[in-house]
Amino acid sequence: MKLCMIGTGYVGLVSGVCFSDLGNDVICVDKDNNKINNLKNGKIPIYEPGLEELVRKNIQNKRLNFSTNLKESIRKSDLIFICVGTPTKKNSKSADLSQVYSVGKEISKSINKFKIIITKSTVPLTTGDKLEKIISKKVNKKLFSVVSNPEFLREGEAIRDFIYPDRVVVGSNEEKSKKILRNLYSPLISKGAKYVSTNRRAAELIKYASNAFLATKITFINEIANLCEKTGIDVEDISIAIGLDKRIGSRFLRAGPAYGGSCFPKDTKAIVSTADKFKSNLSVIKTVIKSNQNRSDLLLKRLLSKIKKINNKNVSFLGVTFKANTDDMRDSSSLKLIPFLSKKGAKIKYYDPTGSKKEFNNLKNVEYSNSIQSCIADSDLIIVHTEWNDFKSINFRKLSKNKKLIIYDMRNIFSAEKINKLGIKYFGIGR
Ligand code: UGA
Repeated sequence: MKLCMIGTGYVGLVSGVCFSDLGNDVICVDKDNNKINNLKNGKIPIYEPGLEELVRKNIQNKRLNFSTNLKESIRKSDLIFICVGTPTKKNSKSADLSQVYSVGKEISKSINKFKIIITKSTVPLTTGDKLEKIISKKVNKKLFSVVSNPEFLREGEAIRDFIYPDRVVVGSNEEKSKKILRNLYSPLISKGAKYVSTNRRAAELIKYASNAFLATKITFINEIANLCEKTGIDVEDISIAIGLDKRIGSRFLRAGPAYGGSCFPKDTKAIVSTADKFKSNLSVIKTVIKSNQNRSDLLLKRLLSKIKKINNKNVSFLGVTFKANTDDMRDSSSLKLIPFLSKKGAKIKYYDPTGSKKEFNNLKNVEYSNSIQSCIADSDLIIVHTEWNDFKSINFRKLSKNKKLIIYDMRNIFSAEKINKLGIKYFGIGR
């Protein structure tokens, strides 16, 4: 099939490359000339394990193309995927859909034969209805169909999540596009992926409900972890035991810092805002948002109860992105933790496998270290902020001579017992 992906951000690029790997002809379009030129040479703008190799392979196979020419790319394709950003609006909680609608207008000018227009960006309930209205101002309704096909990729695991999805969700209000989309996904269905076919609005809501549920699950275990800390219980025991109940499930029950990234914080706000418009109160999700926003303050309070005088202390951060295996800083809890500690007079060094971050450039007493060793050598307190494999085998005693070293393990990747045996004080989350 001939596919056009509009927007080469996370969703557009990963999906486009994976669709081409399944044997389709794909054009990935973006306004950014520089980005497109780099992509043509196999250079990718994001950190995603395995993606660059797949881009190069499919460029060579001549199934993957990159272009800045939207009109021509739409004309050449049968399936048009809208993969542009839907950030939170300034001074509001709802999603900014201006890019989606402006792409819709562009598409309406270039339709020359039947096209299926698919929203893959995370778009609120009824966006498909509005898109259909915009396009039908210029084009006969028989010449196009608007479909919702949300993406459930996780950063850092995106290729695996695309090839082996738990489910593929397609929402369409008519039969022809339903058949074509099922056919597009048949290589994944034949490998065992469940296929859920719904109407368009349901598919739009499924995406938000999924992310809001996962955010709720994480927030739930984070609050249970707070209780564990006060009662001498290890939250891991709770996660394992409740997760074994199939009705609950074991995944996304890892307590840690506040959830972050480009999706959960944005999507929880957007679903609440959409529901408010329909006069439906999503009180659970509202509480989740609040609890998550308070989480960094709670972690800092705990830290200051363990280390009374943080002023002039050498603090090392291992990992600053919102989770491991990504270079993404969006809504990372380190953006609250590091400025707070810098204001309190701590001297901060940080190391991240994906390099230094511009977000900390202008902060007092915050510097990037090129290696784990240089980051922690003079440390009084090490904060393990993300769960990169690179951190799991650190020999703290070899790298640090400080007899009073303290470790705050925000991802519970170390055993308290083993660290204590080295004569190092240790505290984690919910332990
Ligand atoms: C999330 C969803 O997992 C994807 O299914 C979805 O497609 C994507 O959003 C999206 O809407 O585009 P992602 O933001 O890449 O994916 O990251 P996750 O792996 O879900 O982690 C989100 C946050 O939750 C991170 O801060 C992570 O550290 C935290 N988390 C996750 C926990 O604290 N505990 C857990 O058990 C799991």
